[in-house]
Amino acid sequence: MTRAMTNGYEGKTVVLGVTGGIAAYKSVELVSRLRKRGITVHVIETANATEFVSPLTFSTMSGQPCISDTFERPETWNVKHVSLAQAADLFVIAPATANILAKLAMGLADDMLSTTVLATKAPVLVAPAMNTGMWTNAATQANMSILKERGIHVIGPDGGFLACGDTGAGRMSEPAAIEEAILALLAPTRDMEGLRVLVTAGATREHLDPVRFLSNESSGKMGFAIADAAMKRGAEVLLVRGITSAEKPGVTREISVESTQELYDAVTSHCTECDIVIQAAAPCDYRFSKVYDQKLKKMEGTSNLVIEMIENPDIAAEVGRRKQEGQTLVGFAAETEHVTEHAMNKLAKKNLDLIVANDVTMPDAGFNTDTNIVTLITASGMKAIEKMTKHDLAYLILDEILKIRGVDVSGTIR
Ligand code: PMT
Repeated sequence: MTRAMTNGYEGKTVVLGVTGGIAAYKSVELVSRLRKRGITVHVIETANATEFVSPLTFSTMSGQPCISDTFERPETWNVKHVSLAQAADLFVIAPATANILAKLAMGLADDMLSTTVLATKAPVLVAPAMNTGMWTNAATQANMSILKERGIHVIGPDGGFLACGDTGAGRMSEPAAIEEAILALLAPTRDMEGLRVLVTAGATREHLDPVRFLSNESSGKMGFAIADAAMKRGAEVLLVRGITSAEKPGVTREISVESTQELYDAVTSHCTECDIVIQAAAPCDYRFSKVYDQKLKKMEGTSNLVIEMIENPDIAAEVGRRKQEGQTLVGFAAETEHVTEHAMNKLAKKNLDLIVANDVTMPDAGFNTDTNIVTLITASGMKAIEKMTKHDLAYLILDEILKIRGVDVSGTIR
């Protein structure tokens, strides 16, 4: 059995679009090469591509169903094109015919491949392959200029003898060269190497008795996404997590807590050792003044139960008081009204460099969602961020933190 090489590419997803050209056969080797790296490859073939290589060949090589317009009914595009577009860390079209390049330049979406690539936010790499006359045609060259201007990455075409009998530019680059380009684009950006990052995630829980507690809906997804992204970017990550329901990321060190006091103890014991502290947890502001050892019994004849609560320590404020030279402190604000106003107050009160303001009343934002809609607020301004996955938002928040720390992240590919 061949083991995938361990090289940091495991878990990456490439969506490979194959269009109708004789070079399509070379893409079969490309799929095999990527899979050996541990990369998941989903292939989308255009109807014309299936004339050169059957979808069965690509599904066998990729281990994933090959999507082709021959088999797919247009009604299913809507669902699949979005899920594949979102799954892609990189979108590759190899071979890319003059036709698909023109469609990309125009933003046309009339089949599964063009629809999916239009929907993706992943970087796109094209490997053009066509007859020399088509490649040098002013229309194709104008389309290439548009694509390059928009940040689409291009490899090739190479020169040489073409299948049509001509000699000149138009051969698709060799699979090994395309693989190299893919690896370079997927390479994890290790721009947080040497940084120690403390991330809090999840809810705290305040017990009233052994079976009852006060808590909230935080799943840990937001904090976990940040911890995971920071790890992937090379940071040493201490994750302090409360009660969570999401899948945990692998981190350098983890401390599990339940109550706000425990969260306070864990965070304040370690915050001064860290370069960056990101508090995405949702701690309970109050706890019960008396915690019963036994289950509290219903009191006969009493229709009103008044239970006293006392204030928990404000962890972020304490971290702010202990702020070290060169440290970057980040908080979240979960608000239901006057979102930016409340968040700005917290930014100042807790001595934060950045606060991520969530309007938790919005659909697809806040607690226990895979997406979030936030405003990033610093002392010098605010930036409203469109809806995105918590994974993508985590990268964006880390970019913002690095910018605050004076690091240039403009050329980073995600
Ligand atoms: O976990 P998920 O399901 O993905 O949900 C994510 C989230 C909605 C929980 C997250 O994005 C978020 O907004 N977290 C902050 C929730 C919160 O407690 O907000 P707050 O406005 O009450 O607190 C402001 C800041 O002070 C936060 O950084 C909080 O961690 C901190 N805090 C709050 C209370 C307290 N006693 N001590 C604190 O340090």
